[in-house]
Amino acid sequence: EKDGFDHYMLKEIHEQPRSLRNTMAGRIDEAKREIAMPDLGLLPEAVKEIEKIYIVACGTAYHAGMIGKHVFESLAHIPVEVDVASEFRYRNPLFSQKMLTVVVSQSGETADTLAALREAQRNGSRVLAITNVVGSSIAREADYVITTNAGPEIAVASTKAYTSQVIAFYLLGLYFAQVKQTIAANEREALLHAMTQLPDQVEKILTHADEIRAYAASIKDESQMFFIGRGLDYAVSLEGSLKLKEISYIHSEAYAAGELKHGTLALIEEGTRVVALSTQAHLHEKMVSNITEIKARGAVVLGIALEDNMELHRSVDDVCLIPATHPLLAPILSVIPLQLISYYTAVALGNDVDRPRNLAKSVTVE
Ligand code: M6R
Repeated sequence: EKDGFDHYMLKEIHEQPRSLRNTMAGRIDEAKREIAMPDLGLLPEAVKEIEKIYIVACGTAYHAGMIGKHVFESLAHIPVEVDVASEFRYRNPLFSQKMLTVVVSQSGETADTLAALREAQRNGSRVLAITNVVGSSIAREADYVITTNAGPEIAVASTKAYTSQVIAFYLLGLYFAQVKQTIAANEREALLHAMTQLPDQVEKILTHADEIRAYAASIKDESQMFFIGRGLDYAVSLEGSLKLKEISYIHSEAYAAGELKHGTLALIEEGTRVVALSTQAHLHEKMVSNITEIKARGAVVLGIALEDNMELHRSVDDVCLIPATHPLLAPILSVIPLQLISYYTAVALGNDVDRPRNLAKSVTVE
């Protein structure tokens, strides 16, 4: 069942080249070089009317939603708010008919996400669901559904579901941008081309898993870890940090790098381990200055950067390079080493990787 892998989590990490292909399959019209969403039911006229989007989800799906916000805002020029479902449903959000609520849920059964969907519909908002389970409660009740087609995810720590959710956001963002004509044809084609390369690029990162295993061995006895980044890298940092604490039980915090000096910097001392993501060229200089600040206080930093950016080497202790891609797509690649760090750390600690303590795969109670 585990296809020769020691755990479902490792199997699912390695399945990502295939699950990503499956999420994209049939949704990119190669001949016309555009997005085709034949099964979505959200017609171009309806897309043109959307003035605001709420993205609502829990845990890892919420982190995918943070990427979704960047995608919709930068490609389709629609303002987006992202919220965790358990907050959203109790804060009396303002709705209008020109709004679209997007709920994200691997299982399609998360209680708070389902309740948020119902709350949105009750207030006149249409709901689009991004889910991995056909026929789930969320899939049945939503007005529109994008199935991620990642295949069953067994490990409690979500990996392939996350990357497929992020791909679903790219497809959706590009579709909206196409309809609203907020993206030039050449930019759209460049993005589509880069998307089709992602599965092979993930494969390539996975061939370097042993280097990550060595890094994991070096952090397994830490009592705390930090993940820092800006923009999309901050969203990925949150996911890397959640993944680590969920199965290794090491206390870990993700921080927007620019916020460090507003408090968290006080926790950095000699030997503190930090993973710093820097995949966004326009933020690179700012990241280097944040890294310099923490290194001056003794932090030991692993940098994660695109391979066409060699400057990071000078400011970090160790670097993990990932294949170059369009900046918007970098999260799909930069999250892979973070998934592997979390996996190998938990293995090194002898933890029950697939069934971490206190957690359930699907949270169907509030
Ligand atoms: O099934 P869902 O996507 O709605 O689940 C949401 C979260 O419970 C889930 O992503 C959780 O955070 C994962 N265990 C993280 O790895």
